[in-house]
Amino acid sequence: MHLSAVLASTLAGVICTSFAEAQNATQKAALASLPLALSPDPEFNFQLLISLGQLPYAAGDILAAAAVLVQNSFYSFNTTFAVLANATYAAAEIAAVPNPVNAQNTYFAASNYYRSADFFLHGNWSDPLIYDYWTGQTLAFNKAIATLPVPGLRITLPAEGFDTVGTYYAVNNSTTKRRTLVIIQGYDAAQEDSYMQMGASAIQRGWNVLTIEGPGQPTVRRYQGLGFIPDYEKVLIPAVNWLANRTDIDMSKLALAGISMGGYLAARAAAYEPRIKALVLDDGVWDVQASIESGFPPELLQIYAAGNQTEFDAIIDDGIVNNASASSSARWGIDQGLWAFKTHSTYNLLQQAAAYKVQNITYLLDIPIFVGNAVDDTDFPVYKQLVSQDKNVTLHNFTGPASYHCQAGDFERSNRAMLGWLETAF
Ligand SMILES: *[C@@H]1O[C@H](CO)[C@@H](O)[C@H](O)[C@H]1NC(C)=O
Ligand SMILES: *[C@@H]1O[C@H](CO)[C@@H](O)[C@H](O)[C@H]1NC(C)=O
Ligand SMILES: *[C@@H]1O[C@H](CO)[C@@H](O)[C@H](O)[C@H]1NC(C)=O
Ligand SMILES: *[C@@H]1O[C@H](CO)[C@@H](O)[C@H](O)[C@H]1NC(C)=O
Ligand SMILES: *[C@@H]1O[C@H](CO)[C@@H](O)[C@H](O)[C@H]1NC(C)=O
Ligand SMILES: *[C@@H]1O[C@H](CO)[C@@H](O)[C@H](O)[C@H]1NC(C)=O
Ligand SMILES: *[C@@H]1O[C@H](CO)[C@@H](O)[C@H](O)[C@H]1NC(C)=O
Ligand SMILES: *[C@@H]1O[C@H](CO)[C@@H](O)[C@H](O)[C@H]1NC(C)=O
Ligand SMILES: *[C@@H]1O[C@H](CO)[C@@H](O)[C@H](O)[C@H]1NC(C)=O
Ligand SMILES: *[C@@H]1O[C@H](CO)[C@@H](O)[C@H](O)[C@H]1NC(C)=O
Ligand SMILES: *[C@@H]1O[C@H](CO)[C@@H](O)[C@H](O)[C@H]1NC(C)=O
Ligand SMILES: *[C@@H]1O[C@H](CO)[C@@H](O)[C@H](O)[C@H]1NC(C)=O
Repeated sequence: MHLSAVLASTLAGVICTSFAEAQNATQKAALASLPLALSPDPEFNFQLLISLGQLPYAAGDILAAAAVLVQNSFYSFNTTFAVLANATYAAAEIAAVPNPVNAQNTYFAASNYYRSADFFLHGNWSDPLIYDYWTGQTLAFNKAIATLPVPGLRITLPAEGFDTVGTYYAVNNSTTKRRTLVIIQGYDAAQEDSYMQMGASAIQRGWNVLTIEGPGQPTVRRYQGLGFIPDYEKVLIPAVNWLANRTDIDMSKLALAGISMGGYLAARAAAYEPRIKALVLDDGVWDVQASIESGFPPELLQIYAAGNQTEFDAIIDDGIVNNASASSSARWGIDQGLWAFKTHSTYNLLQQAAAYKVQNITYLLDIPIFVGNAVDDTDFPVYKQLVSQDKNVTLHNFTGPASYHCQAGDFERSNRAMLGWLETAF
């Protein structure tokens, strides 16, 4: 979720100190308005806020985990959450015996903790725990959604050269046609996160919900071995075909939400899928390559522009990828990008990212669009171009506790804004 400009501070330490100082002043000003940090490690703090925000009844677990994490130690993060995940899963199994409803939140929490355990491991593609933890998160999540009033339905849909995977949540079992929200994530998060952050709130408000993943995203990257593709309509169209074939969907009220880098993916997909009638972009990503580049000091970008892949990759590998002293944000940002775009070269990652631009497709977007702008978020700070394109865009600034990237820690406020706007969109 957090493709971070903090990359800059680490690389700047290697290459350019004045740049680090500029970043530092900005960060300090921003932090003054945010909630108490749960960890001195900014990236760990962010991930803890995601968990805290997704799990209304798990504050005790998250605070206890925060207390034992060691700054910069990915090992401390996966170990803490793997132990917590197993213990929570075991508790859910016990809770399930007397009362299935007791178990639901516990399974959701266990699933969430397995995802957290996995989060910082993507630097080593051979690590079997990338798969082991995912088996745990999937099993726990399946058991949780089986206890919903209308159980969640896992689907796999043939697409061009891969399968779109998804989960469908109906408001009820009737054939009443209802408005429906499709949710996609971005650089790292899973469709299970989509349910926890936004889907459950949408169902409460009477929306059917479909969460989907395509290449580069957790399930498809793992089990189909595919990195990101820029033309995300290839993922979406089979899902919309599937919805159109159901009896409980009001196709005149079909909305799409893209979270984080999903702000690009959703804009792109909606441009080529006219059955989408309203669009929520949180963030309003304009140019993924520019967002990644904004984390790099100018000296390094000159090497990129000069086309020296060997030198560029060596600087990133020595300064970040293989540098245990690099900040968690920098290491995770590169590790995750390489894993999700399926390359071992950061130079190649930047080249791929050049195709992830909204500039050439805005003319196709003639539906109402909501753009979320977390004011202290430096990850995709480029919504302005979209807003100024003379499109039907409603910009919502998230401030104070909701001003982290994607409103981490404050999803309820985020959902009030986004789902409130969707009420007016049709
Ligand atoms: C950033 O700020 C911290 C204190 O807020 C200070 O200790 C550190 O030296 C600063 N770093 C740079 C590169 O200015
Ligand atoms: C944490 O990850 C490391 C690296 O994969 C692994 O050696 C260790 O066993 C993991 N911890 C737990 C408790 O799974
Ligand atoms: C968690 O449970 C799995 C399955 O029982 C086991 O293989 C793994 O070692 C456990 N991990 C920890 C950290 O306890
Ligand atoms: C990656 O994980 C594999 C499997 O656990 C291990 O054998 C290998 O040493 C790890 N590589 C690195 C660079 O840590
Ligand atoms: C909906 O149908 C499913 C599957 O038949 C069933 O398990 C569930 O209890 C039903 N839910 C309601 C609210 O009727
Ligand atoms: C399902 O929704 C319809 C339409 O809102 C409603 O009439 C019906 O009572 C609901 N059924 C159940 C089992 O909740
Ligand atoms: C639509 O439903 C029919 C009957 O259930 C099925 O045969 C067909 O494959 C479905 N098409 C899609 C696109 O899901
Ligand atoms: C790339 O940079 C390295 C290190 O500065 C240099 O040795 C090499 O000649 C450069 N390659 C090209 C093609 O410019
Ligand atoms: C590793 O990262 C630290 C912290 O940013 C930095 O000071 C150091 O120069 C880096 N090491 C290398 C070899 O680039
Ligand atoms: C956008 O259009 C310009 C001009 O036709 C083209 O050069 C560029 O490659 C396009 N970019 C993307 C990301 O499609
Ligand atoms: C949102 O914040 C931006 C600066 O981050 C400002 O330019 C814009 O006017 C604000 N818009 C609204 C609707 O508050
Ligand atoms: C923008 O969309 C809203 C619905 O969200 C609609 O009421 C309004 O008429 C649209 N405005 C324009 C200029 O198309």
